[in-house]
Amino acid sequence: MKRKYYQREVIKMSCVMDVAEILDLLYKHGWDERNGGNLSYLLEEEEVRDIVKEEVTLKTFHYNFDLTPLIGKYLIITGTGKYFKNCLKDPSNNLGIMKVTDAHTLSLLWGYDDGGRPTSEAPTHLKCHIERLKVDSKHRIVIHCHPTNVICMTHVHDLDSAHWTKDLWKMQTESIVVFPEGIAVLPWILCGGEEIGEATAYKMKEYRSVVWAQHGLFCTGRSIDEAFGLIETIEKAAEIYIKICDKKIYQTISDENLQLLAHAFNIDYRKGIID
Ligand code: 13P
Ligand code: ZN
Repeated sequence: MKRKYYQREVIKMSCVMDVAEILDLLYKHGWDERNGGNLSYLLEEEEVRDIVKEEVTLKTFHYNFDLTPLIGKYLIITGTGKYFKNCLKDPSNNLGIMKVTDAHTLSLLWGYDDGGRPTSEAPTHLKCHIERLKVDSKHRIVIHCHPTNVICMTHVHDLDSAHWTKDLWKMQTESIVVFPEGIAVLPWILCGGEEIGEATAYKMKEYRSVVWAQHGLFCTGRSIDEAFGLIETIEKAAEIYIKICDKKIYQTISDENLQLLAHAFNIDYRKGIID
């Protein structure tokens, strides 16, 4: 009874529902098995007020790197060990709303009802937010997922970012339109730590999408749609690559065709890849 009432209340929390819905969709695409993947989304203060009338710190979480650029900001962050498939039916156990209250502290204002804590990839998420905000003041979201074909590609393709960018651009016409800055690729690095967070955030100075070899993908954007659209387009291009990479190729999109496309659509694409 209490739970039913609670879920009705949640419906009013549009930012929570927007996040829960996209997590559900990511799960349904098969990109977030078990607890695979995590998400963090910068919230506007008004969005938080719809959910948290009065700010009461329920718990604090400490990080030993500098969060100063995020102080005062609110984020919704998936909990560690949580399954994306459960978020829509049970948001308050799986998600938390946090405020960055000082240079090393996230304060929980809502969620993690069963005693959870932020994703183990929080260092990467937080560092990526800091870097993306430096280059794009409208940046809002970081999504990490485990898309199958992207991971397959990291087994059979070299890990050079320029080579990945060129090959993915050539897989389908839309690729260069959707990720004109290209895609960055990192070698296998231990996940969940600061080293991989640093390496990912460094790439995020120039890219919105970073591949982790034999692990998955990080995509960022100004909106849920933008980050999700990047994931969909990159995974689709990787799927095409995996389906044709061992076949005889009769024709492909030439460098000149890509340049023509970029010119026609006024796309400012990364230079040095196809020219
Ligand atoms: P979390 O359950 O801590 O979010 O970890 C999932 C994951 O994908 C690790 O890279
Ligand atoms: Zn992962």
